[in-house]
Parts: sequence; structure tokens; C-alpha cells
Amino acid sequence: MKYGMLTEKILSELKDIVGDSSVWITQEKLLSCSRDQTITLKTDEYIMPDVVVAPSNAEEVSKILKLANKHLIPVTPRGGGTGLSGGALPIHGGIVISDEKLNKIIEIDSENMVAVVEPGVVTSDISTAAIEKKLWYAGYPMSFESCHIGGNIAENAGGGNAVKYGVTIRYVLGLEVVMPTGEIVNLGGKLMKDVSGYNLKELIVGSEGTLGYVTKIILKLQPVMKSRVVLLVLFKDTETAISLVPKIMTESGILPKSIEFIDRNCYESSCKYLNEELPMEGVGAVLLIELDGSVDEHVEHEADKVGVICSEGGAVEIYVADNATTRERIWSVRRNVDEAMRLQYPTQVGQDTVVPIASIPKYVKELEKLAQKHGVLIPIYGHAGDGNLHPSVLKKNEISMEEWETQKHIVEYEIFKLTHNMGGAISGEHGIGTKRKDIFTELAGETHLYFMKKIKEALDPNNIMNPGKIF
Ligand code: LAC
Ligand code: ZN
Repeated sequence: MKYGMLTEKILSELKDIVGDSSVWITQEKLLSCSRDQTITLKTDEYIMPDVVVAPSNAEEVSKILKLANKHLIPVTPRGGGTGLSGGALPIHGGIVISDEKLNKIIEIDSENMVAVVEPGVVTSDISTAAIEKKLWYAGYPMSFESCHIGGNIAENAGGGNAVKYGVTIRYVLGLEVVMPTGEIVNLGGKLMKDVSGYNLKELIVGSEGTLGYVTKIILKLQPVMKSRVVLLVLFKDTETAISLVPKIMTESGILPKSIEFIDRNCYESSCKYLNEELPMEGVGAVLLIELDGSVDEHVEHEADKVGVICSEGGAVEIYVADNATTRERIWSVRRNVDEAMRLQYPTQVGQDTVVPIASIPKYVKELEKLAQKHGVLIPIYGHAGDGNLHPSVLKKNEISMEEWETQKHIVEYEIFKLTHNMGGAISGEHGIGTKRKDIFTELAGETHLYFMKKIKEALDPNNIMNPGKIF
């Protein structure tokens, strides 16, 4: 596809649509939209848009998209910039639509148990606003203090509560979407159920900004679970810890809110980064398990039961966090693993694979074998309770950057093949974006790709909406 150039005339039309102060062509602003948190990009690699615009409502977005179609200018939506698949990178240049002025919590409607928000709201702000009305938003991506809900919608984000509470899609009751060709459409509503027609809302969620620009979101809220217990379970090695995950899921008769796995390397790195003094000696891996509910005694009973399974399964020690401060200390260590590991190992490639829960112990063992075979370190952490892990391949100091580029691709490819062969998927929550599109195209299969491309062509005939992503 040949795209058009951004001319002075188009620039001036953009200013007419959103106002002069919401259009930027300064180097600083363009640069701020040229990266996300995806680590594989080389440090000198900046992917610059030609212009950044910040509309304030759906009508403005609609006009921008109509203009972009007329002149074949690529459009890339951008939220908090915390993405891990390169989904927000303007790889064909053109227009970046920033959500910075679409940042309002429109209402917390407690009677209908919903929040109505714009895409640029930081996810944790939704939780805070809901809690003031004694309600709870269950979405909990590990970047929830900085990611935007619009990005969560685009990637169908997962996170730490997904074992029990599912991923973003479960909470999206309604969307206002500007379709790639500029029409505004309202999907769903303040409705707990809706099977009227094709489920376009579910198609938009997780479409990585390639099928439209979301301007309003109706999110399901639920009662706050007032009883919460977090167990920090210490193990001497990875194998003992990870082998308990399917056991807890199938034998306890309890559905934990979270079962997170952190290996020694990641645990130590995050504790150091936070200056957090959690027990470290002799620890080879940890599980962070959270149980929640509305009756203290029930949750305590569940915590005891899970604790017994862990002890019998070889846990060395179990710390129980039943107040907000200690729970947050432990969760903070988990949330900061990614950040800490990037600082400690700046050259690495992080993955987001997911396998069926029964296969997790075998999967981790196979990853260890792979690391040994290639003589690399592959630290692992992630949302083990739903089979979604983040193995990262680290560059060894003694090899050159050139050797690393080759090695990275070989090891990464083997991880993907292993995952695929075990019935898994190459992304559980970060998305395909630019980072995984080659491997996705290879593994998805012709028929699957054919129908996805048909959908894309039907909704975005000029391929202007976040082009170059997914396939
Ligand atoms: C996490 C992010 C990387 O789980 O998904 O920390
Ligand atoms: Zn994650």
C-alpha cells in the first residue's frame, strides 16, 4: 500500500478539526510517540509519526479518520505507551491520535454497576473512583498505575486477577467506536447481557487499534471483595513451585483470584529494585496466591486449605498477608518484575506465551532445557494460574550484539514452536503488534489469516487504521 504524504493543507485541516493547540509537529512530541515499552527495539530506533493530534470527542476522531482516508494517511492510536508488542508504533508514519484529551471518567453509575469512561483514563484511576462508590473494577494489568483503559481494550489486557475474574473483555459492556472509515457506532450499552446481532464489540476488543478508535467505554463493576488474603509461598526451586499450580487449580476446590509465579532471578531483581526486604535466603522460586471473597472466615479457610496443599507439596515457608499494607508490598514486588529486570538486563527479549494450565510444569521444564541447550538465561515469571508466562531471553555479556541478534531469533523461534506444539498461543495478553507479526503469520494458518484479512478489508478498505500490525 502506498500512503499519501502529510501536506501543509492536511495539517491545516487537522488544526481546523481539533484546534491549533491539539496538533503537534515538534520533534519532542513526535519522539514521545515513537516508542512504547517493547524492549526488542534497538535503542537508536525511533519510529516517528509526522504529526500528533489530540481530539476531544468522537466527532473530531471521525473527521480525522475521514480526512486520513481521503489522503491515504496512516493513523496510529496511542494510549499510555506501556504496550509490550509495538502496537502503538507509527511504523508507516502519518498521524498519531493521542488519547490525552479523552481522559474523563464520565460517570460511576452505581445503580447499574457500571463505569462510563474515555480511553485515556489511567486504569487504576477507574478502580479508585469505583471504590469510592463501594464498587470494584476487576481489571488488573501489571502496569495499571500507568496504562490507559483504551490500551487495555485494544490489547484485551490480562493481568493479575484473570484466573478468577477473566481479562478485559469480560468487563466491556459497551463501546462507542469510530470505525476506520469515520462512522461512529455504539455497541452494547449498560447491559449485562446482549446477543443482538454479531458481536462487533468483542471484535473491537483485542483488535489492537486496527479496526477502529474507541472513544467511550462502559465497564462492568462489581461489589468490592472485602476479604482478601495474599500468600507469599517460598520454594527451594522452580520445579516444586510450578508443579503445584495445576494442583491448586484442580484439587483445592477453590478458585484463587491469582496464582503468580516468580523465579529467583526475577524475585531478587524486583526486591532489590524496590528496596524491599522479603525473605530471600534459600529461595529458588515463589508463588503469590491471592484468595478473596466477602466473608473473612471463608477466605481464611480457603487460604488455610491452599496453604496445606503448598506445604505438603514442598513449600519451605508461607507468609500470610491479610492487611492492605503487606498485600500491597507483595503485589508491588510482582508488578515491578518487568521494570526491574529491564534495568538489570537491558538487552533481552520478553515473551507472553500461554499454554493449557495442566501443561505449565512441563512447559517450564522444556524452557529450562531450551536455555541450557543455547547456553542462555531464560528467567520466568507470570500469571501461572491461567497458563500465561513471561519468559525472557537475556543476552550474555560475552557475546556481541551481532551474535545476540542471531541468537535471539533462534531461541525466540524455538520458544514459539514449543508453545505452539503444546497447544499454546504466542501471546496471552500483550498482543501481536509489530513484535510478533511474522511468527503469528507463520503459525496462525492460512484459513485463519484469510478470514482475519477479510474482516480488516471490510472495515478498513484503505488500510489506514494502525497498519503494519498483527499480520
Ligand atoms: C507482567 C507484564 C509484563 O505480567 O505483563 O508483569
Ligand atoms: Zn503479564
